[in-house]
Amino acid sequence: MCGIVGYVGSKQAWPILISGLKRLEYRGYDSAGVAVLGPDGLKVRKCKGRVSDLQAHVNGDPMTGTAGIGHTRWATHGEPNDVNAHPHVSGDLALIHNGIIENYAPLKEELISRGYTFSSETDTEVLVHLIADIQRTEGTDLAESVRMALQNVVGAYAIVVVDRKNPGLLVAARKSSPLVIGIGDDGDLFLASDATPIVEHTRNVVYMEDGEIAILDREHGLRVRNTRNQEKRPSIQALEIQLEALEKGGYAHFMLKEIYEQPRSIRDSMRGRLNLAQGNIVLGGIKDYEQRMVNAKRILIVGCGTSWHAGMVGEYLFEEFARIPVEVEYASEFRYRNPVINEDDIVIAISQSGETADTLAAIELAKGRGATIIGICNVVGSSIARQTHAGSYTHAGPEIGVASTKAFTAQVTLLTLMALMVGQRKGTIDGARFQQLLQELDAIPAKVEKVLKTEAQVKYIADIYRDARNALYLGRGYSFPVALEGALKLKEISYIHAEGYPAAEMKHGPIALIDEEMPVFVIATHGASYEKVVSNIQEVKARKGKVIAIVTEGDTTVKGIADHVIEVPATSDALVPLLAVVPLQLLSYHVAVMRGCNVDQPRNLAKSVTVE
Ligand code: AGP
Repeated sequence: MCGIVGYVGSKQAWPILISGLKRLEYRGYDSAGVAVLGPDGLKVRKCKGRVSDLQAHVNGDPMTGTAGIGHTRWATHGEPNDVNAHPHVSGDLALIHNGIIENYAPLKEELISRGYTFSSETDTEVLVHLIADIQRTEGTDLAESVRMALQNVVGAYAIVVVDRKNPGLLVAARKSSPLVIGIGDDGDLFLASDATPIVEHTRNVVYMEDGEIAILDREHGLRVRNTRNQEKRPSIQALEIQLEALEKGGYAHFMLKEIYEQPRSIRDSMRGRLNLAQGNIVLGGIKDYEQRMVNAKRILIVGCGTSWHAGMVGEYLFEEFARIPVEVEYASEFRYRNPVINEDDIVIAISQSGETADTLAAIELAKGRGATIIGICNVVGSSIARQTHAGSYTHAGPEIGVASTKAFTAQVTLLTLMALMVGQRKGTIDGARFQQLLQELDAIPAKVEKVLKTEAQVKYIADIYRDARNALYLGRGYSFPVALEGALKLKEISYIHAEGYPAAEMKHGPIALIDEEMPVFVIATHGASYEKVVSNIQEVKARKGKVIAIVTEGDTTVKGIADHVIEVPATSDALVPLLAVVPLQLLSYHVAVMRGCNVDQPRNLAKSVTVE
């Protein structure tokens, strides 16, 4: 996934573009570039590396001009290098792109046969030559040339194009990749892949829809054309995010800040939904579909990565409290498997960014076969949020660190609220038990605060295992998905291979890996399978493995066996994921920092994968 910014107005574009790219660098950061339109015509500067490398590359070159576009890349076609960096140029045009042109090869052959030459390995360069070719042969204006070109394109895109011949104009188009337009009070116009670079300039935004073309014109303002090429009145919305939420707030990394935000973000995800006084749960965003959920014969949960792990917790929650069979699916597998989908199925789509291509495609498949789609997203106005029939936002606030933390606990909180609400409506959960769980859920933010106080101890443990080559994470029941999530956190930011397993499953293979070099992280809190997990710990110790256990406060049994224990407050099994994941987040953070890894922007990764 890549980051796109654009500006046209009365101010110098370069500083606006570069600060916008820095806000978007979490979306992709293997190369970056800008194109500025000004008295020197069209100036393009681009290079491999981060946005700071681009600044050094420009090195004071007066990028003067009051219109321009900028791009920070996550490579899909062509390795990260200066030539493959965006913008790509054809004659007077410069173009930036987020997405994939699937039919770029035949288009490229056709353009080569028409005399075009290519300098990069990218699919994007095909697009800019195609638009230039149409403009030349049809004599159409930029917006019409873009529209005609995109009629030949198969794939996903968010593009912005500028033309040296018309320096006061940006043309943008989107399909499956997001674009947000900002409208300044002074008439300045901004464009970005999401709202984070826009919020410091204006709160008036327009979320582009698939198939639309936007014309950002210094003289005539914003015009938007729909899929039938008809002008439509842009729907202007007020941005909710706060600028300070985009800063690190004194923390060394966004990831650490977001780990520490969890007491607040979990509270915010319950706010107005968990009503202790009335003893009930109200989810306004899905109220029109509550009965369908109550009547559901099956729930499918689709997501990717951490969101898929949250969905795994959801499976245990809905099956325990609402007695509805649940199947949790990797969205990428689901969308291509030609799955059996029934019209009375409920599909819960989980996504922090709301832009993950595989999850979006899974939704469209299920929706096309008549299922009801309920979304759990963190980004308001995101593509997935707008594709679902109903849903609940997690309200975790912007999550900038590529490794998802507060979004996970917010997603699990929402799933807990949904499962409890449906169970209560169905009568499949005892009234007293329901009230007790509401009380316990309400107490979770304070308990997370307590768990955060174990950071120094976690850091001590991280230092011992920072050079491990492999790690195993074990859990049973609700803690099995937490083991998966803990393993993902470690591998994606410290690059240590780690895998999560059901604790009992260890005997069926992974136990062969156990030796004195292997740290084994075990979630061993008091609950239904506690004794069994203690036996699994014994099995590891019997093979000289190192055991780091997450235990319930006051536990003495595991403390006498494991090499290290980290205590979390007591809570019901169903709520353990909200507590047990926190030490594992902190552990992966400190190991990564000690290993000198880039915690907020790990190699090869991007915050949201908007390509397949
Ligand atoms: C999690 O730490 C990763 N960054 C990644 O697995 C992520 O959860 C996945 O790409 C799904 O993203 P989404 O929640 O925005 O759809």
